[in-house]
Amino acid sequence: MKKDNPAELLKLAASVKGFMPEKEGLKLFELALEAAAAGPCLEVGSFCGKSAVYIGAACRQKGTTLFTIDHHRGSEEQQPGQIYFDPEIYDERSRRIDSLPLLRETLEKAELEDTVVPMVTTSKAASRNWATPLSLVFIDGGHSYESTLTDYQCWAGHLLKGGYLVFHDIYPDPFQGGQAPYEVYKLAVNSGDFTMLPLCGSLGILRKR
Ligand SMILES: C[S@@+](CC[C@H](N)C(=O)[O-])C[C@H]1O[C@@H](n2cnc3c(N)ncnc32)[C@H](O)[C@@H]1O
Repeated sequence: MKKDNPAELLKLAASVKGFMPEKEGLKLFELALEAAAAGPCLEVGSFCGKSAVYIGAACRQKGTTLFTIDHHRGSEEQQPGQIYFDPEIYDERSRRIDSLPLLRETLEKAELEDTVVPMVTTSKAASRNWATPLSLVFIDGGHSYESTLTDYQCWAGHLLKGGYLVFHDIYPDPFQGGQAPYEVYKLAVNSGDFTMLPLCGSLGILRKR
């Protein structure tokens, strides 16, 4: 990919397996570009790197880092027999999901290996000794209430003033999608710690006061 060429970025992101529509990806890029001069960004839920391509490209432009966390064993709904199971990321040897090889391939193609730092573990373990203030936190890991709540509790407190807390899959209308991330998003809104910005697709965007 030619570095920082927007058309190349979109082409590459479109070729990566994952769950990030272009409109939302571009919004993440825009938010990260604005925020990242103040400090590094962090996402929970790397999967194969689709969202990391957008946030990472902004971090590269600003000379900072995107930390991206995933145990790469898949969420509940990605396990065999579940709705989002994908046999292409099932590792026969370990008999488990393994999306790490595809993340590495994406970062290599996108020339983001010096910008995006994968952390192959759970969100909770990654947060244990964390002390670096963050300019943007993107929560797109497990989509159960417990998992999203853990991600919020582990990471929101590390945001800088003016930094962005962004949740994926926020659906105020229950007919559009699962409600667990929305319930945690509402907790964040009601905490009084954030200014609520308009939704962009299913991105719930909050700004730290
Ligand atoms: C919806 S996918 C992320 C999609 C990705 N952001 C994209 O743009 O395509 C969710 C990912 O979160 C990971 N995950 C689920 N629970 C996790 C946890 N507690 N800690 C770290 N990663 C987790 C899964 O392994 C899965 O790859």
